Amino acid sequence: MNQKKTPYLKAIIDYINEKPSRFHYPGHKGKLVTLDLTELPQTDNLFCPEGPLLEAQKLTALAFGADYSYFLVNGSTQGIQSAFLTLFKPGDKVLISYYSHRSVIEGLILSGAEPVFIEEEIDNWGIPQNITLEEIENKLDDIKGILLTNPNYFGLVPEIKEIVEYAHSKGIPVIIDEAHGIHLSFHKDLPMSGLEAGADIVIQSMHKMGLSLTQGALIHIKGNRVDSNRLEENIMLLSTTSPSTFILATIDIGRRELYLNGRKRLDRLLPMIEELKEEIERLGIPVYKKTNMDKTKLTIYKIEGNRLSFDLWEKYKIQVEMSSTTYCLFIISLLDTKRTLKKLLKALKNIDIHPSSRIDKPPRYKLIQHPRKAFFSSKEKVKVEDSTNRICGEIITQYPPGIPLLIPGALITEDIKEYLLSIGKEYINVTID
Ligand SMILES: Cc1ncc(COP(=O)(O)O)c(C=O)c1O
Repeated sequence: MNQKKTPYLKAIIDYINEKPSRFHYPGHKGKLVTLDLTELPQTDNLFCPEGPLLEAQKLTALAFGADYSYFLVNGSTQGIQSAFLTLFKPGDKVLISYYSHRSVIEGLILSGAEPVFIEEEIDNWGIPQNITLEEIENKLDDIKGILLTNPNYFGLVPEIKEIVEYAHSKGIPVIIDEAHGIHLSFHKDLPMSGLEAGADIVIQSMHKMGLSLTQGALIHIKGNRVDSNRLEENIMLLSTTSPSTFILATIDIGRRELYLNGRKRLDRLLPMIEELKEEIERLGIPVYKKTNMDKTKLTIYKIEGNRLSFDLWEKYKIQVEMSSTTYCLFIISLLDTKRTLKKLLKALKNIDIHPSSRIDKPPRYKLIQHPRKAFFSSKEKVKVEDSTNRICGEIITQYPPGIPLLIPGALITEDIKEYLLSIGKEYINVTID
């Protein structure tokens, strides 16, 4: 198959070039965004692709080394939820990282699966650490699946190959949340991707480190542990029936660009990032580094991150991805250039950076009820200050990173209550069953 082709984009453009009289949705009739159409005989159908969309998905599977790949218009969130519905039924035990994204908790709520947490370390600066094989080795009794994040927001990766091999030796499927890692397959100096490691389901946000409109994502499957029919049904269950052709076409473009030029772009980008990190360190600002990590991620730490984030915006109109009392995380993508990195360095040279004085480490919660049960039970909204010893009925996250501070079924302890108050949360949904 020819990876230079973008069959889906071509179908959309061919349609537009016919200058059709559009007596169909969307109501904007192409006046808002030309590429935004509905599903038409000429543009194929996301739920039952037979033409250009099927070809685009096949090209994607080949490009990433999957057996099947599916386009998603509701982000990795939809992929993760679909994966849970496909592999697990109520009561199944699933091993997940404590620092999983909220979509994983939503997967638990939807499927009824029960979490067994990998309580990975979080360092003094609030950065969740790599998950090792050792951490999961003796935890697989009764486990029906594992979900790992590769890489996490900061670029840290689990011992993915070892874990996948070990899980498979016990007949257990592995889902990889690779929302931040769609670029991993395209450069040898980046950590291993989930598909390379042999994972069963891999979910990637094309809109994060790839190139698509926001919401564009992929779910891939490989091997015989996943029933593709079931997965397709679940993707459908969680999807709009009016997927934007604009988003879908940009996923097609993203695959082409990553496959044809990903390595070239990363060849150019990685040394530039390395140089930037060295320059920042020369300014006396600590840069977060680990041997096995996604080196595109730039986190400066041990500093007053929130203050720096505020000042960068106020003085230089530079917006960071995420900050805390201890770090600032900057996303550098395939489209960054020497010029954009230079601008950041110049700002960091000229701005006052203060060492962090307060380490913001949210207390860990403990589950005392199943997340699904708590989520669907009767609930009331109470003041956080009155919530001690109640059972949480909702997912509470700060976004980014979207990692829950509290999930349905967790006990609200005194220190959790204090933490919620400290971040300004006033009300909370608790169960009344
Ligand atoms: C680790 C992780 N997984 C999944 C997601 C969900 O991705 P999306 O925004 O594409 O739905 C995110 C989003 O930030 C994330 O950080």
